Amino acid sequence: MTDLFSSLSLNGYQLPNRIAVSPMCQYSCEPDGQATEWHRVHLGSRAVGGAGIVMTEATAVEPRGRITPHDLGIWSDEHADALAPTTEFIREQGAIPAIQLAHAGHKASKSRPWEGNRPIRPEDGGWEVLSPSPDAYPDFSGELPAMRKADSRALEEVTEAYREAAARSLEAGFEIAEIHAAHGYLLHEFLSPVTNRRDDEYGGSFENRTRLLREVVRAVDTVWPDEKPLFVRISGTDWLEGRPSWELEDSVRLAGDLAALGVDLIDVSSGGIHPAQEAPAGPNFQVPLAERIRSEQGEEVAVGAVGGITEPEQADALVRNGRADLVLVGREFLRDPYFGVHAATELGPEDADSKWPVQYRRAVSGPTE
Ligand SMILES: Cc1cc2nc3c(=O)[nH]c(=O)nc-3n(C[C@H](O)[C@H](O)[C@H](O)COP(=O)(O)O)c2cc1C
Repeated sequence: MTDLFSSLSLNGYQLPNRIAVSPMCQYSCEPDGQATEWHRVHLGSRAVGGAGIVMTEATAVEPRGRITPHDLGIWSDEHADALAPTTEFIREQGAIPAIQLAHAGHKASKSRPWEGNRPIRPEDGGWEVLSPSPDAYPDFSGELPAMRKADSRALEEVTEAYREAAARSLEAGFEIAEIHAAHGYLLHEFLSPVTNRRDDEYGGSFENRTRLLREVVRAVDTVWPDEKPLFVRISGTDWLEGRPSWELEDSVRLAGDLAALGVDLIDVSSGGIHPAQEAPAGPNFQVPLAERIRSEQGEEVAVGAVGGITEPEQADALVRNGRADLVLVGREFLRDPYFGVHAATELGPEDADSKWPVQYRRAVSGPTE
């Protein structure tokens, strides 16, 4: 057995292997947030392709938390119903359906990447976005969104929206919930002093800036069963040297706090808070962040690595060498929906052929015609 194909036990819950489809926005809903055939085929294909975990794109917990009007959402029972066939199909393939629960904060109400990724004003079909500190909005596109400072009532609404979204995710058949606290979206905007200039109990100290995330984790935990894994995705660093920002030391400390709240895995991404970030690129570009968190908190919580992971041997080595417990693969899974089964063929665990769905086996073994 190669390590990439060993199962991972999270608080007693068994994952079939260490390969996860990283959450990736598809911007393919009608402006109602409901899953379409695209989601079922797109996510279903990656389950057929051998991923252990198939995670949805950022799924908005409330309408104003969508990045674009075409994002997936889970703010009503109809949204959960629309996702149920997808989770069922993923499970039938032996993979685990996961959902990323998200709120885009002041990066919400934008056009899709292929339409310019620009703020859409309310008069043009957008909406007023929530910001921890509108005066600290980083200039991403030269255009300001219509913003509202998140007051305590709005924060209660957000926390409650996360709780209800987690309960609906369970109804929809998801086995793993991931709270999105990375990439400059709402929860990260509160974590980082770059975007959080508040002087109330949600701003200032580390304790205060992490408060909203801790409240959201607690709210989700009230409805999410102990025996099902709970992940949090964080930006390990803001990649902004020489100014107050969210740094790797903060992430190490936060990982310990989240573990104490019952979080099972920290999914370590990075950046997204400010356009001046100086982020590296290339193979394994974020892995050192995950590795450091794992070396300090690995006894308490599992750690996922993502970013620039494209080769089976590379992914296998990350697990084998103890750099990460789980490998999340993004763009390579867009290029190759069968990355999981291709990895099995290349790495050759004993039962490699059985990773292919039975319907496809004649293509890998048995009669050639
Ligand atoms: C098309 C696309 C959409 C993405 N959407 C999300 C998202 O919804 N949530 C998220 O946390 N990250 C998102 N990401 C980031 C990926 O999950 C991943 O972290 C990133 O692409 C780096 O991994 P990779 O090098 O394997 O692609 C997206 C990336 C791409 C390419």
